[in-house]
Amino acid sequence: MRVPIIAGNWKMYKTPQEAEAFVRELVPLLQPFSGVEQVVCPPFLAIPAVSAALAGTPIKVGAQDVHFEKEGAYTGRISPAMLKGYVEYIIVGHSECRRDLNDTDETVNRKAKAALAFGFKPIIAVGESLAQNEAGETEAFVGQQVRAAYAGISAEQALLTVVAYEPIWAIGTGRNASGEVAQRIIGGVVRSTLADLYGDQVAGQIRIQYGGSVKPENMTEYMSQPDIDGALVGGASLKVDSFVGLIRAASEAKGC
Ligand code: PGA
Repeated sequence: MRVPIIAGNWKMYKTPQEAEAFVRELVPLLQPFSGVEQVVCPPFLAIPAVSAALAGTPIKVGAQDVHFEKEGAYTGRISPAMLKGYVEYIIVGHSECRRDLNDTDETVNRKAKAALAFGFKPIIAVGESLAQNEAGETEAFVGQQVRAAYAGISAEQALLTVVAYEPIWAIGTGRNASGEVAQRIIGGVVRSTLADLYGDQVAGQIRIQYGGSVKPENMTEYMSQPDIDGALVGGASLKVDSFVGLIRAASEAKGC
């Protein structure tokens, strides 16, 4: 039985003060939905305040990215050693990092391995562009992204990971993939690639999220799919009402 996981990716929104006030408001409101794992991923600068405010609560903290080295001459970057004690999850391979920070399949794999080596749980993001989707390349491309991301990762480590399937054309566009389309890729490509790599038993335990224009109103559509275990959410995770709505919808859909 996979525990549903909803993660809010706040991207470059919220000062440390705003982020802390936000989570303080969230804590009592999310209490009834403990069957859903709840994660917030603030900008780096807000992580210490958010982490302190959430200590002793069930809400987990994640980082939006990480460097794969422990330290070094990497201006502007944050290492896994620096995140120790502050976060449990780290998103790696988000399409905005692949696009703006030159993340490649190789660096995403190195980041995932570094996160695991330092005791974090990576949320590994994959997904095709609109052009790839229209050219009918989605299955091959996403399958290859998953294989590349997991190179050198053991089955035991893979169980600690989460995959986020986020078609790039659906991110921040309001044009979400239907539940059926998301299920086809998540079940038919992501989980089956994981099964090729690790066997059905391990693949059946790894949680896979959908991401891309998820809102409280379409959450149920995803959560009612057999292979979709939650969502990675940008825009709709930035307001208290809609964040709570996402968690409530996920909880009701999974009956937990
Ligand atoms: P969105 O972003 O929910 O605003 O589409 C999703 C993401 O980038 O993780």
